[in-house]
Amino acid sequence: MDFLMFQLIHNSKTPLYEQLYQSIKKAIINGTIEEGIKLPSKRKLAEYLAVSQTTIEFAYSQLVAEGFIVSEPRRGYFVQNLEELAIIEQGIASIVPESTDIPSFTVDLSTGKIDTDSFPFKTWRRYAKDIVNEENGELLQLGHPQGDYLLRQQISSYLFQSRGVKSTPEQIILGSGTEQIMPLIIHLLGEKAVYGFENPGYPLTHHLFFNDSRMSVPIAVDNDGVIVSKLEQSFANVMYVTPSHQFPTGAVLSATRRNQLLAWAYQQDNRYIIEDDYDSEFRYTGKPIPSLQGIDQNERVIYLSTFSKSLMPSLRIAYAVLPKSLILQYKQRFSYYAATVPRMDQHILANFMEDGYFAKHLNRMRKIYKRKLEIITKTILQYHPTVSISGEQAGMHILLTIRTTKTETELVKLAEQADIRIYGLQDYISSNLDEQTFPKLVLGFGGLKMEQVASSIHQLMKALEIKKHRNS
Ligand SMILES: Cc1ncc(COP(=O)(O)O)c(C=O)c1O
Repeated sequence: MDFLMFQLIHNSKTPLYEQLYQSIKKAIINGTIEEGIKLPSKRKLAEYLAVSQTTIEFAYSQLVAEGFIVSEPRRGYFVQNLEELAIIEQGIASIVPESTDIPSFTVDLSTGKIDTDSFPFKTWRRYAKDIVNEENGELLQLGHPQGDYLLRQQISSYLFQSRGVKSTPEQIILGSGTEQIMPLIIHLLGEKAVYGFENPGYPLTHHLFFNDSRMSVPIAVDNDGVIVSKLEQSFANVMYVTPSHQFPTGAVLSATRRNQLLAWAYQQDNRYIIEDDYDSEFRYTGKPIPSLQGIDQNERVIYLSTFSKSLMPSLRIAYAVLPKSLILQYKQRFSYYAATVPRMDQHILANFMEDGYFAKHLNRMRKIYKRKLEIITKTILQYHPTVSISGEQAGMHILLTIRTTKTETELVKLAEQADIRIYGLQDYISSNLDEQTFPKLVLGFGGLKMEQVASSIHQLMKALEIKKHRNS
């Protein structure tokens, strides 16, 4: 396995899996790894390189997708013939078989999962049946490029009532996910924009800035959210933030910092805040936190949210509310792009919202996620003070701080060996943070079944070799 002894940099801006994928790809192209060679199993390579199995899995999947290696069922991964690959790259890439190897874990504590048991299938089906109907033949044609007015209207009034967001339907653009809308915003703000992003933060946005060759600077986060004084010292003129429930630390941006952030934006004409309010529907304690957009007096906040948490991630519907000056530019520059959300789905959702089912669903889900969180808090208390929780005021993930001599990578690996998927905070960090603290794990609980919440936590603690301190 010596030919795979790559030097991976743990605190690099480039994720570990990407470094590994690039290194293997390079070695295949320059012939260090020869055609036909069997690569070690994911588990073995993970052990050898002292990284998580998920890292290897992502790297291998990317190599399979690009045809550098093939996955042969029950045999393993084999390096492809590069000449064949050249042919594939010339135009028949689609014949490369996809890996059917979808990773599944006994306990999945990754973020991004929702509770599937409580989805109102019956109601949704009824609305779907009403929409997929001969009478709605018009829905087979393309609709408005920003998304159909009907749904934008529903979103606008929902946002005002629940988040204090001030908008007209004309200011709203729909897209198939935050990841689809963000590049549009990035293009709209031009090449000169320099982005500040939270560190730790949502990795997708860092990739988007990188892929579009935009300058971006990590801004540290503490218990009160992003540290605005650090932003003030930077060259950034656009700040991407998750103020209501920071991803992934769960911190809530304090009132002082909110005012400071808005004041920063008002200091120069070209400054903007991108407020990603992805899971604000689920707030469990204290007063609801108003959106930054709602308190902004100078049209400097671009508000972004999604139905991925509130309904389902596979729906692929997210939206942005653009300030008036930007929406005019948007209409001039981007109106020739067709909406990316299927019209039938837009109408099902609009009717579902209009008849009050969305609000009802949110109320129900808030109680369910709150209950799961209560069980987690109570269970973790048994492992206190070795384990403590933060970021539990909202959303579907929390942060665990573990007082141990083990490293974060070791903890993630121990979990993996027990077939538990969980990510360490390091996976969300873009550049070294000064503070040396105890390892932290980001625990997503949305997808756990209610009856398995407590047992999943006990399983995790057992895997991490953490003993109970008390029994209640
Ligand atoms: C910070 C953040 N923003 C947005 C999203 C949702 O993205 P999308 O709308 O592309 O599903 C997520 C999902 O996990 C998230 O963590």
